[in-house]
Amino acid sequence: MAEWERDTRSFIIFRSANGAMAEDINGKIYLDMTSCSGASPLGSNDPVFKARLAQAMEQEADILPSPVSEQRQILAGKISEMFPSNSRVFFLRTGSCATEAAVRIARHRTGRPVILTAGFHGWHDIFQQHPWSDNPPAKDQHIQDFQYDLDILEQQLVGNEGRVAGIFVTPEPSVFPPELLQEISRMASAHGVLLIVDEVLCGLRYAKGGYCRKHGVKADLITLAKGIAQGIGLSAVVGTADAMVGADKAYLGNTYLRENRAFVAGNLTQEILEEAEIAARIAESGLALKRQFQTSFERSKIAARVLGSDTMFRIVLPSQKHGRVFAQRCLQHGIYTGYPGTYMSNASMDDAFFATLQPALERALADYRKDEDMTAHVTDAAMVEYCAEAFHATERACLSNMHHWA
Ligand SMILES: Cc1ncc(COP(=O)(O)O)c(C=O)c1O
Repeated sequence: MAEWERDTRSFIIFRSANGAMAEDINGKIYLDMTSCSGASPLGSNDPVFKARLAQAMEQEADILPSPVSEQRQILAGKISEMFPSNSRVFFLRTGSCATEAAVRIARHRTGRPVILTAGFHGWHDIFQQHPWSDNPPAKDQHIQDFQYDLDILEQQLVGNEGRVAGIFVTPEPSVFPPELLQEISRMASAHGVLLIVDEVLCGLRYAKGGYCRKHGVKADLITLAKGIAQGIGLSAVVGTADAMVGADKAYLGNTYLRENRAFVAGNLTQEILEEAEIAARIAESGLALKRQFQTSFERSKIAARVLGSDTMFRIVLPSQKHGRVFAQRCLQHGIYTGYPGTYMSNASMDDAFFATLQPALERALADYRKDEDMTAHVTDAAMVEYCAEAFHATERACLSNMHHWA
C-alpha cells in the first residue's frame, strides 16, 4: 500500500477513529497529531455533527441536477462573511482543485501565463514542478518557484515583466513572519500582478477570517479547504470582485458540486464552529498540546524547537535523521505524526487524550534518546535543512526570517 501513503506511516491500516484517537486493524490506538491532516476541526465522529447531519439528510437531497443550490448559496454567504475583503466564493472539492482553480482564475483575469510560487499547493501537475519534483516529465516554464526568497522573486518579476499573472504563496506561519507576506504583497502591487494566498491549511484554523485578514494583507484570491465541511471534501477560492472576473471567463466545471450533502455538511460545520466556540477550544487544546511536547522535551533533556501558533505548530530537531527517528519512535508508541509535519489540535482533545499522550510521549522520547546523538543541537543550519525539506525554501529565505523563529 506504499502508493497510498508514501512515508513511514503506510504500514498502519486504520479501521476507526473517535475524537483524536484512531484504531488500526490490529487494535492498536494512535493519538492523531494531525487532526486528519487538518480536515477535522471537531475530531473524528463528532457526535453533534454526526447527529445533525443524519437528521438534516432525512430532509435534504444527496445530489441535485445542478451545482446551483440553496445549501451552496447559504454556505457561500457564510464564507463571504468570514472573508469580507474576498467576498466572491467559488467552491470546488479538494485543496488541489482550489489551488489550480485560483491559478486559472488569475490567468484569465490578467491574460498572462506566469505564476511565481512559494510553498506547497497540492499534487496537481502545475505544482509538481522544480523544486517539488526533481525531474518532472512535463516541465512547465510558466510556473516558477521563488522558494520564499525575495531576491529570487524580484528577479522573476523583472525577468517576466508583463507576463506574470500572479504570485502564489502558502504562508507557513511557524517559520515565516507576517511581514514576509506583507512585503510580497507590496511587490505584487508594485509590479501590477495578483496576490494569491494558499490558506487551504490555515484559513479556517490559524485565526478567524484567516491569515490575511489577521495580518492586514490584501490578497486578490485566497484558497481554502480544510475545516469547511468537517472531513467531507469541499474547498473554495474566495476573491475580490475584480479578480473573480477571471472565474466568469474560465471553465471550472465540476460534476460533484451537485453533491448537496457536502454543502449541508459545510453549513452544519460552520454553525457548530460558531455556536460551540470551536476556534477557542482548538486554540486551548493546541496550547496544551504544545506545552506537553515542550515539557516532555525539557524533562528528557532533548534538543528540540517547538515553533508556531497554538492551533498549528511544528517540531524541529537537530537533523532530518533525528526527525525521522523521532517520528518512528512516536508511531511505535501510538503517536501519529510525521517529520517534517504540522501539529494540529482539534476540539475533541480532552483530559483522557492528554492523559494517554503524556506516558506515550515519555516512552517515545526515552527510546529516541537511546537511538540518537543527544549532544546535537537545533542550530541555524538545522533550521535551514528543515525549511528546505518542509517548504523548499532557500537558505537565505530561512535565515533572513530568523527573527521570527529564533
Ligand atoms: C497549503 C496547502 N495547499 C494545498 C493542499 C492540497 O490539498 P489536497 O490535499 O486537498 O489536494 C494542501 C494539503 O495539504 C495544503 O496544505
